[in-house]
Amino acid sequence: MSDQNDFDLMDPAVQQCPYAGYKRLRDTEPLYKLASADFHLVTQYDLAREIIRAPDAFPSSVSPMALSDDGIAPDIIAIYESGGWVPLASCSTSDPPYQTRVRGFLEKLFTAERVREAAPMIDKIAETLLDDLEGETDVDFIQAFAHPLPMMVIADLLGVPQSDISQFKIWSDAIVEPFSMMASKERRIECAQLVVEMQAYFAEMVAERQRQPRNDLISEAIAYRDNSGGAFTMQELMTIITIDLLASGNETTTAAIGSGMKLLIEDPSALAEIVAEPALIPRLTEEVLRLESPAQGMFRRCAKDSILRGVSLAEGELLNIRFGAANRDEQQFANPDQIDLHRPKPGGHLAFGMGRHVCVGAALARQEIISAFRAVTQRYDHFWLTPDRDEPYYQPSLFGRNLLTLPISWSPRK
Ligand code: HEM
Repeated sequence: MSDQNDFDLMDPAVQQCPYAGYKRLRDTEPLYKLASADFHLVTQYDLAREIIRAPDAFPSSVSPMALSDDGIAPDIIAIYESGGWVPLASCSTSDPPYQTRVRGFLEKLFTAERVREAAPMIDKIAETLLDDLEGETDVDFIQAFAHPLPMMVIADLLGVPQSDISQFKIWSDAIVEPFSMMASKERRIECAQLVVEMQAYFAEMVAERQRQPRNDLISEAIAYRDNSGGAFTMQELMTIITIDLLASGNETTTAAIGSGMKLLIEDPSALAEIVAEPALIPRLTEEVLRLESPAQGMFRRCAKDSILRGVSLAEGELLNIRFGAANRDEQQFANPDQIDLHRPKPGGHLAFGMGRHVCVGAALARQEIISAFRAVTQRYDHFWLTPDRDEPYYQPSLFGRNLLTLPISWSPRK
């Protein structure tokens, strides 16, 4: 419709800074059909909530991988079938009863109490990563810190030994990339081959723990029984480990830590506040999640013909809820584009979704972001973009908000 049709969210240049475009849509066309793709964008907070709160009318079973290629390509399926297990839908892109069964397991893993127990391990990983950077004045904050931190945390919880971490990193990247909907066919084939290697690695870990359970998430997944007493199949276990835990959790948390540093560099007064008062770091965490929502958008499908805000939608039409746009809605948040460490309801954003699919890893992610910024600001109090290096650039993606690099310089606290 009208002059907004030039808002092409499939264009990587638009993805770099979509917020002015989101605002235009919120003001004029909160349900907006993209010209270049077959779905609507939902940009207002209230409308996003209305849709999320009606999960039977707007279910989640839409596979992003399927969208990119009219179904997972047969040659990619063949790679999985020959050497491993074809991934099932993720928990977030499935509906009951499968979603209920998997969620029943996942939501026990990261309760507030369990995350409190894990906090010393998370703090230690943050400290160790910074120890390795001791004396360096210029670092790529993403590669050196934001990326390894969540990966090492989940590896520890799964029971992956430290010695396998660098290989684990290559595999976990290969899991995430196809979800961007921007990876080339060649890269998706390469990723499938890497994921099959990772499945073989985890299948061996599963076999070991079947013989001798340990205190880790893999042993817990093996022991889990659903409401009817059923155990997870090997294909389900592989999907849970690689998609629900790694793909859903790592990149999102990396994105938050990376974006958080960029936001602090852009807002010296917010940085000064948290350096002076570290107790504000949990509030900073909520503002980062709100302002640069790591999961920018998720799909819903119309279960039947529907009308939303006067727009008629046919059964099967797709809605892409832009958490990143809803979280900057001025009807909901005063000064929505600013960090405000004193908002009355700091967690009132939709960065973790809500309702049936609300993020099961939210408590873990929050702790990781808090531990990251506590550790960094205990050692350093000035940060700036390293001169003469590339501008920070977000990886092209319809879903994520991941800086590819963030070259920064820092000076230690006196
Ligand atoms: C800052 C980090 C994170 C963000 C912003 C985030 C965001 C989200 C959002 C928005 C949803 C709901 C999707 C929807 O409604 O369609 C979700 C679901 C989910 N998240 Fe997270 N997430 C983060 C970290 C994690 C972590 C650390 C894990 C696990 C280790 C995780 C696992 C999941 C799973 C399994 C679901 C699906 C739940 C369901 O469908 O019932 N996430 N996440």
